[in-house]
Amino acid sequence: MYIYKAAVVGAGAMGSEIAQTISYSGIPVIFKDLNEHLVQSGLKRIREIYEGRVQKGKMTTEEVESKIVLIRPTTSYADFKEIDIVIEAVFEDIGVKKNVFQELDRACPKSAILASNTSALSISQLGATTARPEKVIGMHFFYPAHVMKLVEIIPGLETSEETVTDVTSFAESLRKLPIRVNECAGFLVNRLLMPYLNEASYALQEGSTGLQEIDRAMVEFGFPMGPFTLVDTLGLEVCHSVVKTLLEEYGERMKPAEIWGHLQTAGRYGMKRGKGFYTYGEKIEVDEEMKSLLQNLSKKYPKQPFSVERMIFPMINEAALCLQEGIGRAGDIDLAMLTGIGFPPSKQGLLHFADQVGIDVIVRQLDVWSFQMGGRFWPAPLLRRMTKANRLGLKTKKGFFTYS
Ligand SMILES: NC(=O)c1ccc[n+]([C@@H]2O[C@H](COP(=O)([O-])OP(=O)(O)OC[C@H]3O[C@@H](n4cnc5c(N)ncnc54)[C@H](O)[C@@H]3O)[C@@H](O)[C@H]2O)c1
Repeated sequence: MYIYKAAVVGAGAMGSEIAQTISYSGIPVIFKDLNEHLVQSGLKRIREIYEGRVQKGKMTTEEVESKIVLIRPTTSYADFKEIDIVIEAVFEDIGVKKNVFQELDRACPKSAILASNTSALSISQLGATTARPEKVIGMHFFYPAHVMKLVEIIPGLETSEETVTDVTSFAESLRKLPIRVNECAGFLVNRLLMPYLNEASYALQEGSTGLQEIDRAMVEFGFPMGPFTLVDTLGLEVCHSVVKTLLEEYGERMKPAEIWGHLQTAGRYGMKRGKGFYTYGEKIEVDEEMKSLLQNLSKKYPKQPFSVERMIFPMINEAALCLQEGIGRAGDIDLAMLTGIGFPPSKQGLLHFADQVGIDVIVRQLDVWSFQMGGRFWPAPLLRRMTKANRLGLKTKKGFFTYS
């Protein structure tokens, strides 16, 4: 099915970005929120994105106007009778999303695909609230969606292959890079990202290394920004709600570091609110409140050495679990890490990096850490099997990938 007409529900940060992306590709899009004010502020954001393109000389004002007329703002579902696909981007709350999916099921033609931009909620659960679970799918864009290429395409338990194919082609027509991710909590990118952000937070609260030192080490490794700058950019409430979902599904190994709770209690939600791990004033700095929080926490925890490997190996371990569970393919995992979280391109992706390090080295180290720091480091069975089978990576020419 070719998609001629789309709709976006939710005109917030993501909904605006997604509607802009769709209009930019020349596809008409209905743009809905609860009231006129919310729709207008979404439209304002869309104009800003387009104006940025004009300022950079990438588009003319006439071209921008020709794109903006493709966006039809609304506060009602009356206009949804002829659409081919809806992308839902309302609050990350299962109750709110279930209501929206029921409303969409009533308002849209039977043939329409209902996609959700949820960060971590269950697509199967959303599908089950409709009479068309075969047409319900996850379409997870990344912020800012007008820049980020990656889109995770997540079929639920009852999603048809036809829907997967249609949505994949639609994402390609938006000039995005779709990868298929079979359903699991956090999907691929957030499921792998959170153990990294969490481990950085564990290391920080132990107090052997400082905030800026950890951020700096990861930037030197090749990330565009350090883990604490990233949490501050994403917003603590977003990260916390993803971690909560992961904790429910995977248990102890996703348990958030204690410091996250303290930041939340202190209202340190991140960059948008002026302070998170850092304080964002004229200068970006670590303020007294943060210093004293870190000092208090460091008295509670034994100091363990900080290393870049301690941050990266849990991600590799989680990726191995994803492979075992059939969530995605090794090549897609690398692509997702490169394009979704800015994993250093010089390392060619997370699993290519694992092959460079050596699977046996990683398993040995994870074993040591799980003895010293707890079960969250317990090596994935796949990693042990690979070691036994001498699939050690580059040095044996076979690991996650084969090398000639
Ligand atoms: N912000 C991110 O970085 C990011 C990245 C990827 C995915 N997501 C996901 O995208 C979704 C939206 O996130 P956001 O950051 O844009 O949130 P947001 O709070 O900026 O926007 C949500 C919008 O949905 C609207 N809304 C709520 N109920 C509605 C309804 N019944 N009908 C129409 N509109 C309704 C709200 O008024 C609000 O404008 C969430 O599921 C989130 O997890 C967010």
